Amino acid sequence: MADPWQAAMDHAVAVARKAGEVIREALQSDINIMCKSSSVDLVTKTDQQVEQLIFASIREKFPTHSLIGEESVAAGQPCVLTDSPTWIIDPVDGTTNFVHRFPFVAVSIGFVVKKEPEFGVVYSCVEDKMYTGRKGKGAYCNGLPLQVSDQTDIKQSIVITELGSNRDPEVVDKIFSSMRKILCIPVHGLRGVGTAATNMSLVATGAVEAYYEIGVHCWDIAAGAIIVTEAGGVAIDVEGGPFDLMSRRVLVANNKTIAARIVKEIDTFPARRDDAP
Ligand code: IPD
Repeated sequence: MADPWQAAMDHAVAVARKAGEVIREALQSDINIMCKSSSVDLVTKTDQQVEQLIFASIREKFPTHSLIGEESVAAGQPCVLTDSPTWIIDPVDGTTNFVHRFPFVAVSIGFVVKKEPEFGVVYSCVEDKMYTGRKGKGAYCNGLPLQVSDQTDIKQSIVITELGSNRDPEVVDKIFSSMRKILCIPVHGLRGVGTAATNMSLVATGAVEAYYEIGVHCWDIAAGAIIVTEAGGVAIDVEGGPFDLMSRRVLVANNKTIAARIVKEIDTFPARRDDAP
């Protein structure tokens, strides 16, 4: 049977590539920086322009589909997942990197039907790496198949996490306490490249064993989660329950053994759900 979402996935790859070109060009020019919820929660004209470009192209081709995008939600659009085919978009994942020209910036496009992920596309545009994952059909980077690491020993692993943009000292303490505990297991190393979508794609490549974060949004993780699971990994909640796209919490790993070991060390803190009324 023909894949009902092949045209949508092809479109996602094409528009992510186009968006990446716009971002690469913008990196050569002056960057217009604005703040959202705080002085460390940044947005630029490029984030807004790229989201508009992606939205317009999807609306033209798939007018009945729903859209959730980081900048539209920031502008007051609802962030609620329905059963309808829904595109979940981060036009510039790694905005702080973009502002500082730290060379990891991704376009992230997830596609969900009846609340179930169908495909994900992450274009790490400075590196020119196109990561894709299609339900039941595997994950790829620039056309080559991806496979997570086969490591089961946490002590032989690299774990990725991020510091996020919450500067509440109590939250920062929890973030550092989790990192300290994981580092001292000990693991081979802790990393983080400043974009959730790229971090997750790195789990899919097998370069690292796991990535976790509390405080991310659905647009940061919708695409990456299916890329990891299609590369043979797992996506769960940071306390070990099922992965919940709107919960602002994620743990992806190469396997359940590594994931369960990391769960034991994570100190959680509250994060308002993306779909909270
Ligand atoms: C951020 C990045 C970052 C993560 C933050 C995200 P943005 O996305 O993915 O790595 O730590 O939680 O919000 O704001 O650059 O699209």
